[in-house]
Amino acid sequence: MKILVINGPNINMLGIREKNIYGDKDYNALIRYIKESAENLGVDVECFQSNSEGDIVTEIQKAYGVYDGIVINPAAYTHTSIAILDALKAVSMPAVEVHISDVNAREEFRRISYAGMACIKTYAGLGFEGYKKAIETLKSHCDHK
Ligand code: DQA
Repeated sequence: MKILVINGPNINMLGIREKNIYGDKDYNALIRYIKESAENLGVDVECFQSNSEGDIVTEIQKAYGVYDGIVINPAAYTHTSIAILDALKAVSMPAVEVHISDVNAREEFRRISYAGMACIKTYAGLGFEGYKKAIETLKSHCDHK
């Protein structure tokens, strides 16, 4: 089983940005955590990060026929991007949405998630653990197919 993990804008700034919200671990620590979690579950994982909406759309399109599922934290594009929603719908692959912070407990504008409308599940507010849970969810989803 092969999973693509996509992180959106400013996730590469983890460890520097708003530590009170996102914690003090950096992006490399997140990648290590994701790879270790996937390995423990016997899942192959690739990680992609971009600050650009179009590049994220292209990466989702390229995942078609290559991966079995997508874990996506679209970051700020969560709340604005119909293009990312449409890309997820276009490839019609099982996808799970992750947010490090609890988006529902923050500003009103973070409560809407376009990408989430194309996802089978959302994990928010669990920090890095949300990515592990997302991989577990995709694994059991694919195992029961
Ligand atoms: C985020 C939440 C978003 O609202 C925010 O724009 C981010 C990160 C999270 O992981 O908690 O950049 O997706």
